[in-house]
Amino acid sequence: MDEEGLAEISARYIRFADTEARGRSPLYEELARAVAGNREALGFLSTLPDLKQQPNLLLAAVRHLFGTPAGWTEFRQALQTNPDAIRSLMLERSTQTNEPGRCATLLPVLARLPQPLALIEVGTSAGLCLMPDLYGYDYGRKVIRAPAMALEPPVFRCLASETTPLPTTLPQVVWRAGLDLRPIDASDDSQVAWLETLVWPEQTARLANLRAALKIAATVKPRVVKGDLRGSDLVQLCNEAPNDATLVIFHTAVLDYVSDLGDREAFAEQAMRLSPYWVSNEFPRVFPSIATRAGTSWPPGRFLLSANGSPVAWTDPHGASLEWIADEAWAIGGGLPSLARDAIRSQFHLCSFATACVLNSRQAPFGLATGRLNEGTARWAREDRIRSREPQLSASRLRCKPACRSSEPGEFSETHKLEIDHD
Ligand SMILES: C[S@@+](CC[C@H](N)C(=O)[O-])C[C@H]1O[C@@H](n2cnc3c(N)ncnc32)[C@H](O)[C@@H]1O
Repeated sequence: MDEEGLAEISARYIRFADTEARGRSPLYEELARAVAGNREALGFLSTLPDLKQQPNLLLAAVRHLFGTPAGWTEFRQALQTNPDAIRSLMLERSTQTNEPGRCATLLPVLARLPQPLALIEVGTSAGLCLMPDLYGYDYGRKVIRAPAMALEPPVFRCLASETTPLPTTLPQVVWRAGLDLRPIDASDDSQVAWLETLVWPEQTARLANLRAALKIAATVKPRVVKGDLRGSDLVQLCNEAPNDATLVIFHTAVLDYVSDLGDREAFAEQAMRLSPYWVSNEFPRVFPSIATRAGTSWPPGRFLLSANGSPVAWTDPHGASLEWIADEAWAIGGGLPSLARDAIRSQFHLCSFATACVLNSRQAPFGLATGRLNEGTARWAREDRIRSREPQLSASRLRCKPACRSSEPGEFSETHKLEIDHD
């Protein structure tokens, strides 16, 4: 590999040290910086495919084989003397870190959707994030207890910003299923050992919570199907979801593994077509068109939580904190008359990628609902379309008026006012 290639790997490790490990794992920060400055280690990494050069994967592979090193000297020695064993483990495994603590950042969104829920998680690993209703949460100013069960549930601590609409109860999940290229079996000791190694050193509370969640998964056995989030596997799962629950397709820390932006956007479009709610919790670079709507400066090392393409919160990648950025009006169902709410849900069915549907119940005190639609939706969101999909909305009850248009670089939006006369 040429100098430029080595410099790229080095920059990746520096970025990991600066934005991911700093403040979370002093050992990983030290090791990542040392790798970034060591030609031998960079040379070793350059023999691996791009996806396998990940800092998390190298650091976990060395710890899995040789235990947690005291520091760089021990780490380098392991790498120098056992490159083949480390390489083959890195090729065999992947970073399937399953972090159930991410449920703490998903919960404020999930709890606001019309209940009960049918959850589909793509890139689910062992399915631990598919059980947000079975854990406890401590948001400091509010604690939500896990349901009573024989097993000791994990309690996830999450520092939530003042404006975060914290849930008062757990969501009601009546159906759940996950999809993963390589599902992990929570009752298989060797797979569980790898998941445990993926938890960073020093993070003992995280490890204890992971173990508690794994025990629940070994009992509940959330259904995890082997398949690719791109294509027909997801369609198949959606078809199996019950009709009398709100279907939600969600993912956390997954779409970064889909290297092509076009593929990621195609997935997003499909998720929006298949389900009324699509919730994404990913690094902002994953969906730049959503992230630019959250502002121009993205907080380093944060995921962007979005719902139906609309930015909702900046989140800690392991679920330790949450900064709510959505308009306070992001209040689906909050006091809207049910007919208006149904119509809004029908809009979601019609939405395409990057749709922002901002509802404000205060703007709709008399049963009027306003939705902001993007270009794709605008094409579909004509009265006749909505009526043909929602025959119970009679002509006299529903008006869909173009309100205003705006064009920003790379994005078009058209605001429609959807008015429904309330009985
Ligand atoms: C970092 S893990 C995240 C697991 C879980 N979502 C969480 O937040 O704890 C990423 C997972 O995505 C899966 N994955 C990556 N690309 C995928 C694809 N194209 N289709 C399905 N799963 C995929 C991987 O196998 C892995 O289990």
